[in-house]
Amino acid sequence: MLEKPKVLVTKTIPQAGLDLVREACDADVWSNYEPMPRDVLLESVSGVSGLLSLSTNAVDAELMDAAGPELKVISNFAVGYDNIDVAAATGRGIPVGNTPGVLTDTTADLAFALLMAAARRIVEGAEYVKAGEWGAWRTVMPLGRDVHGATLGIIGMGRIGRAVARRATGFDMRVIYFDPYCDPDKAPFVGVGLHCSLEELLAEADFVSLHVPLNEETRHLIDANALAQMKPTAILVNSARGPVVDTDALYDALVENQIAGAALDVTDPEPLPSDHKLLSLPNCLVVPHIGSASVITRDRMAVLAAENLLAGVRGQRLPNCVNPEVYATGGGQPAAELA
Ligand code: DGY
Repeated sequence: MLEKPKVLVTKTIPQAGLDLVREACDADVWSNYEPMPRDVLLESVSGVSGLLSLSTNAVDAELMDAAGPELKVISNFAVGYDNIDVAAATGRGIPVGNTPGVLTDTTADLAFALLMAAARRIVEGAEYVKAGEWGAWRTVMPLGRDVHGATLGIIGMGRIGRAVARRATGFDMRVIYFDPYCDPDKAPFVGVGLHCSLEELLAEADFVSLHVPLNEETRHLIDANALAQMKPTAILVNSARGPVVDTDALYDALVENQIAGAALDVTDPEPLPSDHKLLSLPNCLVVPHIGSASVITRDRMAVLAAENLLAGVRGQRLPNCVNPEVYATGGGQPAAELA
């Protein structure tokens, strides 16, 4: 009987995906709540054919070298892959998989929920009730901002940005967007939003929602200068990646009421320590990176991540590969199986 390929899963994933992995592979699965410490990761990865990683693991050249020449695939349990040195993987002929599509609407729902919660001060209101401060009905407190009729500025009009735009139309919002990689004349979503420059978006939007991947172009895209261009009544929503926003600059802008509020699913650093200065601000709402956290979506992500892993260890093309150029050269893959 053929030996099953050895794989490392750096954190337990939902059962639907784990079953697929366990059935086909000799799987070492890290099931602790805390992330795998780096030294344990470096040791455990040695000799595996496949690595199923989370966005909290840095998968860099050192880790790939620690795995050794057997490593045939890196499958990330996330759509974002800024934790992976893709160039280093490509250089070694290793395909990298991610989980796009299945989490689009769930993440868009969360972005919209954050927008609504910040606009209508839902969390503050709930805390007010719990603190026993709900006395006679008052006309002035706590007042929020209207979502309907407001202008939503979407930065990054990919799958998730478009899904947020669709939700906004149901609230009669005006949608504007900035995305240097979209051709507004060709994009099928023309009509949902109006393309504009980043400067126009920052100046006009009542809500700015971020939907860009993290890379060198987008790191600190929202810095002190960008925040200074926003309306004092505007709310920033980040469900993309923490470092797209300069945290210190955001803190200053919130303290100085340069903008009205922020609602963040992702932060820099992440996790955000409970004594972090951002958490002392009443106009900053933070949730713990739960964009894709619905039962069905996490199941689908697990299955997709498992399918990428299994295709990779079998030398087949990954269903969702972020560096398909590895196939152009036949890197790491048997040519016969690439068609
Ligand atoms: C993703 O899929 O990129 C989510 O943010 C989880 O990291």
